[in-house]
Amino acid sequence: MNELDAIVSSAQSAFAQASTPADLENAKARFLGKTGSITELMKGMAALSVEEKKSRGAAINVAKQAVEAALNARRQALADAELNKQLQAEALDVTLPGRARGTGGLHPVSLTMERLEAIFGSMGFEVAQGPEIEADWFNFTALNTPEDHPARSMHDTFYVEGGSAKAPNLLRTHTSPVQVRHAVQHVKQHKALTDAGQPMPEIRVIAPGRTYRVDSDATHSPMFHQCEGLWIGENVSFKDLKYLFTEFCRTFFERDDLVLRFRPSFFPFTEPSAEIDIQFQSGPLAGRWLEVAGSGQVHPNVVRNMGLDPEKHIGFAFGMGLDRFTMLRYGVNDLRLFFDGDIRFLSQFK
Ligand code: PHE
Repeated sequence: MNELDAIVSSAQSAFAQASTPADLENAKARFLGKTGSITELMKGMAALSVEEKKSRGAAINVAKQAVEAALNARRQALADAELNKQLQAEALDVTLPGRARGTGGLHPVSLTMERLEAIFGSMGFEVAQGPEIEADWFNFTALNTPEDHPARSMHDTFYVEGGSAKAPNLLRTHTSPVQVRHAVQHVKQHKALTDAGQPMPEIRVIAPGRTYRVDSDATHSPMFHQCEGLWIGENVSFKDLKYLFTEFCRTFFERDDLVLRFRPSFFPFTEPSAEIDIQFQSGPLAGRWLEVAGSGQVHPNVVRNMGLDPEKHIGFAFGMGLDRFTMLRYGVNDLRLFFDGDIRFLSQFK
């Protein structure tokens, strides 16, 4: 290899080893700088004859161009590498999933309410609502539970401002006050008809909603849910209650073989009264009697407070625990899960 070829190839490898633009400029100085090897060769030509200058000059030029070409190629390569590095650092990963907004769902107890409204709706029942802050009259007295009645002590609740000193307003302890509120409205609404001697349309209503008592453990929550039912007409009997409630429960739980038991009980606002128990014939709860509702024939005093004549109007009422119904339907074993707001629990009902 002659001297010029050796210079070119050592320049090529020096440039290749330069890993930054600064390294590369230093390497360039070694060949093309003021004292670089190519420059030195040019200087050496001064002593040559004109003929020799021509051929030597041409050869040095070829070598110089080869070194410059290697330099430029490396400059470009380093610049490209730098650009690629920058592009990579600023790259957007378009394969990352977006940040979605989670969709909520109805609370299981709300699902139960909707289900109840649909089933009872199909049996001709309308849906009524009443206030959660209730007057003493509607929660107790109108329901044949006068002041000092012992049954009141089972309904200890939260008393709030309003009402009278003797009978302050309270958070309703059951949905039964809606019975009286709704019936009074119903009687008013059809007054023209009854004044004209026409029969009053039957009262058929359910009233789902929140209720309150001073109670808190695995099976009791200070706020819970009930649904009231009321059916009043001129010829309604306990037989109708049994049929209606049996049909309702079988539809609600989707079990044709569900068995019901009406167990004699006491409520001041119904006479006779019965506790309703249900029994599944299969599944994890098979064979056990489970209490799901209170019921009875509406007491004559309550019928009177509705503005109706108990000699003419007869009916029955029931009140069921919606949290209980929801737990039984979905197999939930701790009532508190309904009120914890844990998304892992709630999202299972979406
Ligand atoms: N209100 C009663 C309770 O909360 C249930 C009930 C309603 C009983 C209607 C009879 C008739 O325990």
